[in-house]
Amino acid sequence: MENILAPSILSADFKILGEQIEQTEKAGAKYIHFDVMDGIFVPSISFGMPVLSALKGAVKQALDVHLMVTEPIRYVKEFAKCGADIITVHLEACEDVKATVDEIKASGVKAGITIKPATPVKELIPYLELADMFLIMSVEPGFGGQAFIPESLDKIKELRTLLDERGLKTDIEVDGGIYCENVEAVLDAGANIIVSGSGVFKGNITENTKRFMEILKRHE
Ligand code: DX5
Ligand code: ZN
Repeated sequence: MENILAPSILSADFKILGEQIEQTEKAGAKYIHFDVMDGIFVPSISFGMPVLSALKGAVKQALDVHLMVTEPIRYVKEFAKCGADIITVHLEACEDVKATVDEIKASGVKAGITIKPATPVKELIPYLELADMFLIMSVEPGFGGQAFIPESLDKIKELRTLLDERGLKTDIEVDGGIYCENVEAVLDAGANIIVSGSGVFKGNITENTKRFMEILKRHE
């Protein structure tokens, strides 16, 4: 499977967002991870549709939208229209997960389902055939810069096994507290899409991205 880096712009410098995204693109990152927070599902509020619209067309990477929003079905069409390529929703935030995934697919974009650290992997079992991607949160959603929760590695392994048993080659993304220093363990556990905010945008963006990409390519 192709290993993909998805820099999370939550940790970027918004004064020069376009420039910083371009640096990650030139150094090999194929996705941009876009964290939407509503102040209800998670305590904080980040950014939304107008920012996504501005990036669409200006940015070469696929736009990977992570909705930390209560009842995200309400916003799926709008985010698809604004340029999302992938929309990921929280299992915990949906009244009807299947209807939400159907709505994402009907909008012409890829559908992801994500779980918080305390939600067991087995809750994803009814949806294994349905989603294009699963996102294992390795920190409590809501803020960048938190420490990776080590138990996430077992959740990734468990999910990869469940997918393998069904012959599914579905993407597993992991988000939170990932740096060059611990990314190998995440890849070895069975993930293939790596989100990193602080690990990419704090310090030298080009160097950080290149280092990540070297490790990701070595592990394919
Ligand atoms: C957290 C967000 C993450 C965050 C990751 O709620 O979903 O995408 O930006 O940031 P780091 O890599 O700094 O933990
Ligand atoms: Zn995220």
